[in-house]
Amino acid sequence: MLDRDRQFVWHPYTQMKTAPRPLAIVRGQGVYLYTDDGRKLLDGISSWWVNIHGHAHPRLAQAIADQARRLEHVIFAGATHEPAVDLAERLVGVLPAGLTKIFYSDNGSTAVEVAVKMAIQYWRNRNQPARQRIVALEHAYHGDTIGTMAVSAPSVFTDAFSSLLFEVDRVKPEEVEPHLRAHGERVAAVIVEPMLQGAGGMIMWPAESLAHVREACYRHGVLLIADEVLTGFGRTGRMFACEHAAVTPDIICLSKALTAGYLPLAVTATTNAVFDAFLSDDRTKTFFHGHSFTANPLACAVALASLDLLEEGRVLERVARLERQLRDGLAPLKDVPRVADVRVLGGVGVVELASDGGYLDSLGPRLYDAFLKRGVLLRPLGNVLYLMPPYVITDAEVDWVLECIREVVKQIE
Ligand SMILES: Cc1ncc(COP(=O)(O)O)c(C=O)c1O
Repeated sequence: MLDRDRQFVWHPYTQMKTAPRPLAIVRGQGVYLYTDDGRKLLDGISSWWVNIHGHAHPRLAQAIADQARRLEHVIFAGATHEPAVDLAERLVGVLPAGLTKIFYSDNGSTAVEVAVKMAIQYWRNRNQPARQRIVALEHAYHGDTIGTMAVSAPSVFTDAFSSLLFEVDRVKPEEVEPHLRAHGERVAAVIVEPMLQGAGGMIMWPAESLAHVREACYRHGVLLIADEVLTGFGRTGRMFACEHAAVTPDIICLSKALTAGYLPLAVTATTNAVFDAFLSDDRTKTFFHGHSFTANPLACAVALASLDLLEEGRVLERVARLERQLRDGLAPLKDVPRVADVRVLGGVGVVELASDGGYLDSLGPRLYDAFLKRGVLLRPLGNVLYLMPPYVITDAEVDWVLECIREVVKQIE
């Protein structure tokens, strides 16, 4: 298989000339992945931050199988189906109060593209077309499509495409209010990753700042977009990270753990006020956006089953315990000279190593190899090592991974 992989496949985020052979994964079970050469690896990054209930969960597999026997897919313009309607209703029940309309798409990037397009057209439909600017935060990451690269901070991910990216106003959280005071009349929306900026370096920022950003947006009549693609569904210890600051954004983006990581699906949810700006007898005010697989029934069915597990399983209590374990287990690393910072939020534990190499720092691959040798799959963002396991990980497994992390960090050259 690996020879055929090399011959036919082009992997994401991978320098195909120099990359080592990929792991050949033949099955998953709970928090473990199994390779074709008989290795058992603990999935410490939830398979790119998507998996929450573990791999090959029987209830989730059953939900997909049952739905596949009834209806696998249908066009979602001019047609609807029970899984999509049920999921929309359930999501409105758990989302921050006031988010009442669910627009489906396929992945985190499309969820954000949809949000940005909605915000721009919202103002056009309301006859304020001068509001065209998006305000985004330093270190932001919102996806890899052209529009989401534009709102993401410039980086090695976006450099090659800079000529294609629209301009945004880039600020720190504390600069949002003064920026809107000065330029608010040309701003359509502020976009943030609430509480935790993921791919930009697992940077945590305070709930008070998020509350201030929300306030500033209200004061200056600007929409707030919360990108909860990573943070949604319990990852930060609350169902949604906005809850830490008790705020409701005007638009929220969800994906990743929405389906427990089983199938691609995304949601861009809005308030009635945003939705209503698109209601008109004038058909040009329609939101002209959709994808072939919008609201795929299999994906909606597994998302519903995941919500059942989240509600039945006292999952937020589990994440709270995980947070305590991560804090206690990583704290000793604060005294290691090589360690620049240790931080924890919900089910995410971060050890930042001192370095100036950023994302391309050679520490990343060396740490990756060191953990693989011990049977743990971790994929540092350069010098930023983090653990973000599926919530079903046991206390003993967390202790074991934390011990591995302490050993590797102390030994790494
Ligand atoms: C906050 C955030 N937004 C958007 C995305 C893009 O999601 P996707 O990779 O599904 O396109 C990611 C992916 O890591 C993310 O962390």
